[in-house]
Amino acid sequence: MCFDEDALNDRHVVISGGCGAIGVGVVKKLTDHGANVTVNDILESAVAESRLRDAGANMENLFYVKADLTQASQVGTLVKAAQSKFGPIHTALCHIGMVIPKPLLEFETDEWDKTMAVNVKTAFLLGQATAKAMLEDGIAGHLIFTTSWVADVPWPEIGPYNASKAAMKQLMRSFARELADKGIRANAIAPGIVSVGLAKHQWDTDPSYRSRAQKAIPLGYMQPLESVANAFLFLCSPAADYMTGSVLLVDGGCSLYPMD
Ligand SMILES: NC(=O)c1ccc[n+]([C@@H]2O[C@H](COP(=O)([O-])OP(=O)(O)OC[C@H]3O[C@@H](n4cnc5c(N)ncnc54)[C@H](O)[C@@H]3O)[C@@H](O)[C@H]2O)c1
Repeated sequence: MCFDEDALNDRHVVISGGCGAIGVGVVKKLTDHGANVTVNDILESAVAESRLRDAGANMENLFYVKADLTQASQVGTLVKAAQSKFGPIHTALCHIGMVIPKPLLEFETDEWDKTMAVNVKTAFLLGQATAKAMLEDGIAGHLIFTTSWVADVPWPEIGPYNASKAAMKQLMRSFARELADKGIRANAIAPGIVSVGLAKHQWDTDPSYRSRAQKAIPLGYMQPLESVANAFLFLCSPAADYMTGSVLLVDGGCSLYPMD
């Protein structure tokens, strides 16, 4: 991608869920372009650091903080630790997500609660805590939420996940609306069906998933991780400075029409 290697120099980015299948690719892209990145996850430090190193992230520009972001007190600890390591936070990526695949009529209440806590509550808590820190530090900062094309087009048998991503989209727009006059922006990135983790495993091993997914992707192939990382690079860069309240849809056309 055509961004200078120093495009994010002097920027401090915090990412939650940064050791997941997509997160490590995003962290690599951001550190490759000069950002200092505080990476959060719930993994033990040794596991987290080895995942980030294996992904090729620049470990000198990176600081790992283990914290469970469903807990407000741990979000506060993360923000303080990030500020003491790399100074004021410029960009917060509310990126944690989980999905439980099963028909809506079989969902248990605690599965609904967990999906909402991990996807929506963590995004709210991190967005709120980092926005407060940005205001205190006098930073015109940026909140970026990872949603999905399924926020608008319900993919079958992940109903609570679809609903959680729609909630995150409106949460993002609410942050954007309320904080614009304070100089803080909020946007979302909505990927498609990314060729990593569970989706990649299902694509490789489950013919019925593969045929359904293939029908859903007009471009015809799974989304390369690089394309998601590039979208983050763009949104984190000054090239996106006039954007707020937007969803950057990078989904190979998945949301163009219903799949079935
Ligand atoms: N994989 C896809 O095809 C796809 C498509 C569209 C959107 N997304 C979104 O992209 C994001 C990343 O997806 P992924 O596929 O990399 O998922 P992943 O499961 O590989 O990564 C999620 C990470 O979040 C961490 N995490 C979970 N609960 C946490 C908590 N309470 N506190 C801190 N960290 C926690 C996990 O340990 C994990 O490392 C999610 O928001 C997901 O919804 C993924």
